Amino acid sequence: MPAAGLSRKGFVATPVPMSLEEFRLLRDLVYEYCGIFFKNDVQYLLERRLSVRLRENQLDTFTEYYRYLRYSSNRSQELEEIVELLTTNETYFFREDYQLKAFAEEIIPEIIERNGARKRMRIWSAGCSSGEEAYTIAMIIKEMPKLRGWDIEIFANDISRKVIQTARRGLYGKTSFRTTDHYFLSKYFKPQGDKYVIQEGIRSMVSFGQLNLLDDEMLQLIGMVDVVFCRNVLIYFDKNARLRVVKTFYGKLKEMGYLLLGHSESLMNVSTDFELVHLKNDLVYRKPAQVWKGEQ
Ligand SMILES: C[S@@+](CC[C@H](N)C(=O)[O-])C[C@H]1O[C@@H](n2cnc3c(N)ncnc32)[C@H](O)[C@@H]1O
Repeated sequence: MPAAGLSRKGFVATPVPMSLEEFRLLRDLVYEYCGIFFKNDVQYLLERRLSVRLRENQLDTFTEYYRYLRYSSNRSQELEEIVELLTTNETYFFREDYQLKAFAEEIIPEIIERNGARKRMRIWSAGCSSGEEAYTIAMIIKEMPKLRGWDIEIFANDISRKVIQTARRGLYGKTSFRTTDHYFLSKYFKPQGDKYVIQEGIRSMVSFGQLNLLDDEMLQLIGMVDVVFCRNVLIYFDKNARLRVVKTFYGKLKEMGYLLLGHSESLMNVSTDFELVHLKNDLVYRKPAQVWKGEQ
């Protein structure tokens, strides 16, 4: 049962009033922590969602809550709670199929050619939410006979602990399959009650971990990769946070490695480091090969 005064969605029936000053302080703190930026016109949203946390921590005002977030020994735990309330985790299997087609029919064959000697491929799903994107990549790879015997790893990360737990469980309801072909559903999932669980062979191809894309220390855990999927994540960031994250991707991608963004996202006004490549099925970004500039 929800606590008294809380609706089922976790909103309080009567939110605690938030002043403009309090909104700005909290908005900047959230931004500093995870890059998600709230414009002035969504003050009500922060007010409604964060009121839950005030009640939970038995605080009366947002000024007290701000101090708690800045100085309490529980601050990192509380920031994680905020992330759960403020992130949008919408996702599903086989999202943006034209891009997946480009990945399967154009990008992977190029990598097979390039990495053929070592037979090794690394893929990063950054901002993977509950895992549908990473498992989609794994199923596509599993379907490619030329990749049998390859050493392949898919890293998948999200700032939200909850979605990473869901991803590891691998149990999904109907909405996750809204664009999934029956072929994949019957081949790679087993029914469990009114849900479906991912087959172990696919699950074991993906390593999930909680990671904040703005946390430089944690990012050291990610090695060099051939492809980065970061779809529908940068839209929640402002320009500076985008710039920072895209710089990270540039550093982690091998030469000629691909960066795949969501269909409404682009690097316009963010970075000129990548080249825009016109594939048959999609427009994608690629880290250029280094040009030999002679002895320096
Ligand atoms: C809309 S979902 C996109 C999921 C998937 N990539 C897709 O396109 O279907 C955005 C995800 O980005 C995650 N996210 C937001 N800020 C993040 C950050 N600073 N570090 C890592 N993940 C973050 C959210 O928790 C959320 O699960």
